[in-house]
Amino acid sequence: MATSATSFPLILSLLLALLLASPVKCSVTTLDASDSEVWSELTTAWDSVLPASVFKEVKEECDRFNSLGDVYDLGDMKFGKKSTNWLAMSEGEESAEPRNFIEYAIHQFYELAIPEQFYGDNYNIKHYNELKRYTKSDIQGAEWWIQARSGKEGIGFHYDKDEAYASNYMTMSFPIISTITYLTDAGAPTLILNQTSLDGSLEFPEVPHEGFLSYPKSNRHVIFRGDLNHGVSKTLSLDVDTPNSRVTLLVNWWMRKPMEPNCMVFTDALAKKAGFVYPEKVAKAVRKATNPGPNKVNSESTPFLNITDPKSKNTKLYSRHMERFPPNDGFHYDMPRIKDLVAHTLYAVNWSWEHVFGTVGMLDLWNQNQISSLFRIVEPKLIVFVHDDRDLESPTGINWWLQPLAKRYQSRIKTYTATTEKAQNAWGEFGIIEKDLPIAVMHDTKTNRKLVLERGAVFGEDKVEELMKKFLSESSDEL
Ligand SMILES: *[C@@H]1O[C@H](CO)[C@@H](O)[C@H](O)[C@H]1NC(C)=O
Ligand SMILES: *[C@@H]1O[C@H](CO)[C@@H](O)[C@H](O)[C@H]1NC(C)=O
Ligand SMILES: *[C@@H]1O[C@H](CO)[C@@H](O)[C@H](O)[C@H]1NC(C)=O
Repeated sequence: MATSATSFPLILSLLLALLLASPVKCSVTTLDASDSEVWSELTTAWDSVLPASVFKEVKEECDRFNSLGDVYDLGDMKFGKKSTNWLAMSEGEESAEPRNFIEYAIHQFYELAIPEQFYGDNYNIKHYNELKRYTKSDIQGAEWWIQARSGKEGIGFHYDKDEAYASNYMTMSFPIISTITYLTDAGAPTLILNQTSLDGSLEFPEVPHEGFLSYPKSNRHVIFRGDLNHGVSKTLSLDVDTPNSRVTLLVNWWMRKPMEPNCMVFTDALAKKAGFVYPEKVAKAVRKATNPGPNKVNSESTPFLNITDPKSKNTKLYSRHMERFPPNDGFHYDMPRIKDLVAHTLYAVNWSWEHVFGTVGMLDLWNQNQISSLFRIVEPKLIVFVHDDRDLESPTGINWWLQPLAKRYQSRIKTYTATTEKAQNAWGEFGIIEKDLPIAVMHDTKTNRKLVLERGAVFGEDKVEELMKKFLSESSDEL
């Protein structure tokens, strides 16, 4: 007893010494000039984008506009989306006098909208039949709207698109440039990913490995290529949950006006009726304003999160987050812990292979979009049936090995996880009962060929990979 009592502290101090000696890999660096050039093909930002006195007016106007509800009062719209507003802005029209402060702001933002920055020689996204080389003269106008969210609220990941066009033609038409102007310092950050899509079902690349994490900063204007997947990550909020504390003015630049009824012209008659026409007041305020900005946010003030630690489950440095991408795929990504993130900061992010995953669907038999996409996908499916999310997400959960496994096989097998709540009705198809869980099955939805993991086997990565390999080799035998 006596020896162990004295050796204990000794072991502890040895351990401590080891810990202190081992270098903790710092994940925040800066980009060098050549890197920052590549990154600027995705996003750029400006601080003090409007003179402070004008910015104050814009903020007040946005709050007032938002409290109006739907100014177009169209009743039931297809899919119930609220209308956005259109301001024509082609050469000639750009000199038109702004009727209110929001329009003045849009005129200022027009100066910063340079498509050539995003559509240079490196923009060679392979899946486009025709390469887009947008220039300033392609910009015909601005679609704008206002969003107010609480401090811990997120916004689902999406592509900015012509919504009515997408509903009618089932394909996507993107703005040339998307922008966000933060009107407050509050709320969850925007995550802009280096990922695009043609029709919303096939993503390119399948898993994005670069992006920008943009914490709200009042009077900051962020612009990015209009075809990028983005959203607001509530789990990365550094804020308290105050209602409507996160207010943004969104302005997207288009080649042509998005279709009605989702995007409407804010006519003189409507603007007058709603009380948004006072060009003299705007002109006067602008004359009086002293303008120190806009100041481009340079790479020195854009910290670079290089999340490339070879140990993928380093809970000391990172925590893992999850977002849903339509139809219901889980995007899992590592970020520095909340206490290591700094408010009002724009981060460039780079994830190595083992820190970002996005190929696994979360099966929900009530999600029609997901079920139709499941049948459209030609690859055989791996479905992992579990009791509930705890089986997947706990610190020892299945996702820690299933996500990398699914990513390794992403071009040959589409993987789903299926909880009892969302997918119990599928058990019968595979002859599964509750006590079999967790269990994996392979299914070819074209030929209806099935293979179920041996029941009672120790469930783990090796067994599941064996099942995948067996199914694939039997498929190739059939050819
Ligand atoms: C974004 O992705 C494209 C296509 O995969 C790639 O060519 C480009 O270098 C990426 N941009 C950044 C900043 O990594
Ligand atoms: C990011 O990490 C990778 C892998 O460790 C390394 O090769 C690269 O140089 C790092 N980039 C920067 C800018 O530090
Ligand atoms: C991003 O991460 C990849 C993979 O670790 C690495 O090869 C690459 O150099 C990194 N990019 C930068 C700009 O550091």
